[in-house]
Amino acid sequence: MSPKLHAVTGAFGFTGRYITQRLLAAGQRVLTLTSSVGRANPFGASVDVKPYTWDDQAALTDALRGVDVLYNTYWVRFNHRNFKHTEAVENTLKLFAAARQAGVRRVVHTSITNPSLDSPLEYFRGKAVLEKALKESGLSYAILRPAVLFGDEDILVNNIAWALRRLPVFGVFGRGGYRLQPMHVDDFAALAIAQGAGSENTTIDAI
Ligand SMILES: NC(=O)c1ccc[n+]([C@@H]2O[C@H](COP(=O)([O-])OP(=O)(O)OC[C@H]3O[C@@H](n4cnc5c(N)ncnc54)[C@H](OP(=O)(O)O)[C@@H]3O)[C@@H](O)[C@H]2O)c1
Repeated sequence: MSPKLHAVTGAFGFTGRYITQRLLAAGQRVLTLTSSVGRANPFGASVDVKPYTWDDQAALTDALRGVDVLYNTYWVRFNHRNFKHTEAVENTLKLFAAARQAGVRRVVHTSITNPSLDSPLEYFRGKAVLEKALKESGLSYAILRPAVLFGDEDILVNNIAWALRRLPVFGVFGRGGYRLQPMHVDDFAALAIAQGAGSENTTIDAI
């Protein structure tokens, strides 16, 4: 890969960190958009840090100028007092519009398995709204749909494992016979970067 500029949302978070690590190791340049501009990070000056500017579309667009691929991980895991899925949807639509205006070549977007506009669950409905918007945006895209990502820093599988090791009983929903297909976060990062290098519009179950 010849050196290009890549934008990774949340490079100091979970998925974004692994994507960033791989891009830097491949000699690529990385900027991150983040809510945590001042957070200590393992990349130091190797990553250009810019804040999400949801109230300033022009600044968001300027931040993405010169970017070849935008890797979008931005989302909120659950609704809470200060932040809701609806807000994450609105902000992501602004991010797609900024990418389009800035001339970003391709967007690699992190979705979820089985998103649906009819879902009663806001998480899955919001992800379906964003997939539709990206497909209709005119941007080149790869949509990746993980079920669950695991790795040293993940808080879901590691917390379940902790509970299983220490508690005499463990509650599960339903009969517990359902299945899901997790993916290691670094394998997901490799997939994201491989898709960033492509140009075909595609939607992939990252499982
Ligand atoms: N983790 C999984 O098992 C899993 C499974 C399926 C799909 N996904 C999808 O994978 C993507 C990345 O997940 P992740 O676990 O790697 O996310 P993450 O690193 O925790 O966050 C990704 C980005 O969203 C921002 N963000 C998250 N919560 C926020 C909040 N409450 N307020 C403001 N900004 C917030 C983060 O801000 P900062 O920059 O400040 O960190 C970061 O830029 C998401 O789109 C998620 O839906 C994850």
